Amino acid sequence: MQKRLFLLLFLALYCSSVKSQGMWIPSLIEKQNEKDMKALGLKLKADDIYAPAHPSIKDAICQFDGGCTGEMISSEGLLLTNHHCGFDAIQQLSSLENNYIENGYWAKDRSTELPAEGVTAMFVTRIEDVTLVALQGVTDGMAERERQSQIDKNIAGLKSATKKEKWEDIEVRPFYNGNQYYLFVTQTFKDVRFVGAPPSSIGKFGADTDNWVWPRHTGDFSIFRIYADKDNHPAAYSKDNKPYRPGHFLPISLDGVEEGDFSMVYGFPGATNEYLTEAAIRQTGEVLDPARVAIRDRALKVMDGFMRKDPAVKISYVARYASIANAWKKWLGEMQGMKTYKAYDKKAAYEAEFTARIQQNPDWNVRYKNLLPRLRQLYKDIEPYALGRDYYLETMVRNNEIMGTVSSLSGWINSYDPKNEAVFSDKLSRIKNSMAGFYKDYHPQVDEAVLAAMMEMYGENARAEWGAADVKYMAKDAGGYTALAKNLMEQSVFAQRSKFMDLLETQKPAEIANTLKNDLAFKLWEKLQGFYTGQIQSKLQELQPQINLLQRQYMAAQMEVFKEKRFFPDANSTLRLTYGKIRGFSPKDAVQYEFQTDLDGVMEKYIPGDYEFDVPQKLINLWKAKDYGQYATTDGRLPVACIGTNHTTGGNSGSPALDAHGNLIGLNFDRVWEGTMSDLNYDPAICRNIMVDARYILFIVDKFGGAGYLLNEMKLVKGKKKRKK
Ligand code: ARG
Ligand code: ASP
Repeated sequence: MQKRLFLLLFLALYCSSVKSQGMWIPSLIEKQNEKDMKALGLKLKADDIYAPAHPSIKDAICQFDGGCTGEMISSEGLLLTNHHCGFDAIQQLSSLENNYIENGYWAKDRSTELPAEGVTAMFVTRIEDVTLVALQGVTDGMAERERQSQIDKNIAGLKSATKKEKWEDIEVRPFYNGNQYYLFVTQTFKDVRFVGAPPSSIGKFGADTDNWVWPRHTGDFSIFRIYADKDNHPAAYSKDNKPYRPGHFLPISLDGVEEGDFSMVYGFPGATNEYLTEAAIRQTGEVLDPARVAIRDRALKVMDGFMRKDPAVKISYVARYASIANAWKKWLGEMQGMKTYKAYDKKAAYEAEFTARIQQNPDWNVRYKNLLPRLRQLYKDIEPYALGRDYYLETMVRNNEIMGTVSSLSGWINSYDPKNEAVFSDKLSRIKNSMAGFYKDYHPQVDEAVLAAMMEMYGENARAEWGAADVKYMAKDAGGYTALAKNLMEQSVFAQRSKFMDLLETQKPAEIANTLKNDLAFKLWEKLQGFYTGQIQSKLQELQPQINLLQRQYMAAQMEVFKEKRFFPDANSTLRLTYGKIRGFSPKDAVQYEFQTDLDGVMEKYIPGDYEFDVPQKLINLWKAKDYGQYATTDGRLPVACIGTNHTTGGNSGSPALDAHGNLIGLNFDRVWEGTMSDLNYDPAICRNIMVDARYILFIVDKFGGAGYLLNEMKLVKGKKKRKK
């Protein structure tokens, strides 16, 4: 009895605190969130935020370059996103003479805006719930494959029956683990030009050390412009294109933020898994995360050693290092956070309550009583294979370059067919190009050391019967993993730029394919990949669909059994709105984080000449003179970043943070270290999103960049906010 009482109490706390969480579907805000949002302070109506038939805030929001979010900040297509989201494009446009990463860039006028080839901006025209049609003819007893092919057929029908303009696209996506389906009509712009960004010492200030950490002092923003054809529709690049005139653009607030202010973040969150079982998140936090972290630990340490010794290596490897380190640090935060903040206990209590409730309802009991036990068993069954997959992919594909390259070229190499050489040779020039790009930043001595470490991790820790024994044996034969890596690098043509490029330039397809197929690195890949597909992937393909089916049923069951709880669908890279308050937090006893940082804090972190914490002289001068103009707080500080309780994830980078009136107050770019578990276990007491303060962005553009003319096309607003007494 006592135990039950405790559980109920726990659950009551859990559910009430959960209230502010969620990534909501914009077309459902009126029904699901408007009241709640108004209670928190929203001054707009739901259809100011999303409306299919007239302009609304959604018309200012786009998915930037496939993985981030961007937003319109002028009537002439000016687009704001993160520095780390524009990074690839900026790097592509940079050269040694014009190093925009290092020095920043500000186009003086339209003619000096630089076409960012390949960059896209996708807007949502309208969203429709198409669940009924998508699931037509689907029955409970269907096998998964049969079910999916029925759904695919329904979706194809939907796509052809839906009215759209010729420049628009249609996408249908599953929600709530496949219990619901939504259709999106979208338009994607392809002429996107780089307008400006601060130098990395501002846009990436604090780099990897500060990544995922609060307090933060990064000016993580960059500016682009969308161009459209003469009818304002998407078009390929043309010098005749005109700046895009969006249905809506965001006014920017000069009022700033205070603790407790309402805020909302509008964007394209990538993926979350908030409704898994305890068994599932425990597996991630206690088995998979630790393995991936340990592997990346090794790889990163090796890379870091070389980067510190040699500035040339540092330049070549910063982007690669940053991307490997980004996930590494997130997993580390996630596994620690779930342990510290009792994620497993919370899930266990939730499941106990689920079980108690279904036992009191005979109908539920029949339908749902096997769900949790079966999921528990299936997670046990899949664990070794999930771990095997992570071990293989992390050591042999993702973290060392030579095996990663072999793996990505393997399809092409194996496609060689003497009777039909065209399949192979048609791809030759593209591969030559991409390999030339690869070798530009390739340092074989670094990769050799990483390869030795990765083979050791695999050989010593993976299951013997999955090829680990073979790797171990090879190492023994060679006189250790270091010697094995050395042999491999010396003998493999993939590791040698001139040999590889020569081979592609001078040899016939048959000879190229023959050489590559007999290459030592290719042979090793072939062997391990054979174990992987034969013994790991095949098991995953057998078990994962069973888990997916039960998870879909469990999702539906949770929504039925916990009627009082509001369920938002897990993030799936579609447009969502999340809301909350600007708020600090307390990660542990006696520690309290404030909600805002300022320029003084940048100077506290300043390390002259340091790769991560250097500060440009001009910014130092502005700081010394306290020359903050209209961007200062009332007490004369220059705000840099702030945190709030908005529930965000990867993909929300570049998303606008808006005030109660829909004005831009900040630019989302990260989450706090203690709360990186939020993809699996959002905890409103601990999880915070990090935003660059809009005033810091304006200050950098205007006072630091001297690009104040850009402000002329923006709409700066002041005095909109009623001060609290
Ligand atoms: N952690 C943030 C995100 O997941 C920012 C990453 C970019 N910054 C960096 N130092 N790598 O994307
Ligand atoms: N930094 C992430 C992004 O790039 C945002 C996050 O994970 O909070 O989307």
